[in-house]
Amino acid sequence: MSEKTTLDRRFFMKGAGATALFGSAMAGGLAVPATTNAKGMGHTSMSMAYDLNEEFNRIGSGDSKWDGVRRRARPHDVPFPMGVADMDFRTLPHITEALMKRMGHQNWGYQPAPADFYDNIIAWNAKRYDQTVKPGSILNAHGVLDGCLSILKLHNTNGAPVLIQTPGYSGFFSVVRNAQFSSLENPLVLNDGRWEMDLETMGKQIDEHDVKVMLFCNPQNPTGNCWSPEEMRAMGDLCISKGVLVISDEIHCDFVNKHATYTPYATLGEKYAQSSYTLKSTSKSFNLAAQHVAYLFSDNQKMIDDLKKSGHQRGSLNALGMIACNAAYKHGATYMDDMQAYIDGNCHFLEKYCAEEMKDVKYKVHEGTYLAFIDCTRVAKKLGGPNGEQRVGDLLQRFFIEKAGVNLNPGENYGKNGAGYMRMNLATTHKKLHGALNAMKAAIDAI
Ligand SMILES: Cc1ncc(COP(=O)(O)O)c(C=O)c1O
Repeated sequence: MSEKTTLDRRFFMKGAGATALFGSAMAGGLAVPATTNAKGMGHTSMSMAYDLNEEFNRIGSGDSKWDGVRRRARPHDVPFPMGVADMDFRTLPHITEALMKRMGHQNWGYQPAPADFYDNIIAWNAKRYDQTVKPGSILNAHGVLDGCLSILKLHNTNGAPVLIQTPGYSGFFSVVRNAQFSSLENPLVLNDGRWEMDLETMGKQIDEHDVKVMLFCNPQNPTGNCWSPEEMRAMGDLCISKGVLVISDEIHCDFVNKHATYTPYATLGEKYAQSSYTLKSTSKSFNLAAQHVAYLFSDNQKMIDDLKKSGHQRGSLNALGMIACNAAYKHGATYMDDMQAYIDGNCHFLEKYCAEEMKDVKYKVHEGTYLAFIDCTRVAKKLGGPNGEQRVGDLLQRFFIEKAGVNLNPGENYGKNGAGYMRMNLATTHKKLHGALNAMKAAIDAI
């Protein structure tokens, strides 16, 4: 091991809590440490239960992040795919164990959710976020975006553009298109490195376009903001005063860095809970995206009943997805705490690396999600800028793939004001992150 790597390992130890660096104490068993009550706070230490440093080989499973990107990038090799928002870690062992057990029973007939499925959803949100999810107010969805699609179709009665704060999750634009509406970008504004809400412009846009629905994201993809209660109250008050429904996508809520706090939008008070839906899932937290199990809820029972009547998908879900989701919420608290600490370490490492070694890229540790939105405007400038119709992000994406083997997502995928930024997925091992950054630095230095 080189001296430099040793030094970096010490850095990660400091940032992420000591234990993850030295491998797992688990040795194939399912040792389950006591669960914790995080209440939306990032964690400071790690258990010895899960080996997040394991170089888990995803190649060959047919997935989008590794196999898909590598196929598209040919003839270039992409040893560092850091685009698609899923994780490089082996999932919670309890999930695999529950799935294997179910697989052993070779019966694939109709099947309802496990008896404690909704209880586990309710308990996870209560324990970790002090959020009361009422039994009977939860609807299944095959994905968070599928849930958004149903809500958009029910509520956007006048066909007005759907409001999205930008930079904002690229899937929001596609789901709005799927619902056959148009999107209205409400740009966040950079203030000392943090993207902040512009409610004055939002109010004007709502009036001008008679907006009825807003797609909101907390913690926010791609900026990584965990919105504060004050920020959300101001936004919520504006929406309520103008009759705008808030669809709050909180799929990233389980990823919160140490210095930050996640507040569920619907916990701000009765009026916010009554005028919104919340959507969540275990798909980001436990890397279960292809299991297609998500859920949505609202304190407004009429809205839930109307959604059920409106043709929102029938309640049934995939058998394996339900079992995976259930095992995750039942057994996953410590895994999730460890994950937060590990990713917090990655965020700090990225910040330090950019400040000291790769000064053409700017990044400040963000609050929530495992996604970093890094400012690459100086790199784009060094490259001479885009040609003709090409987007800056496409130029940067090609450059990092071809010269560094790193795949990042172009900032423009998240709105016009994302130009010059790239989204980097930090849900990977310290070693891979370090390797990717070294490769990016070498490529930039060689321009
Ligand atoms: C904010 C946000 N919402 C929704 C999704 C997709 O969720 P699903 O696959 O459950 O539709 C993603 C995936 O990256 C996301 O980042």
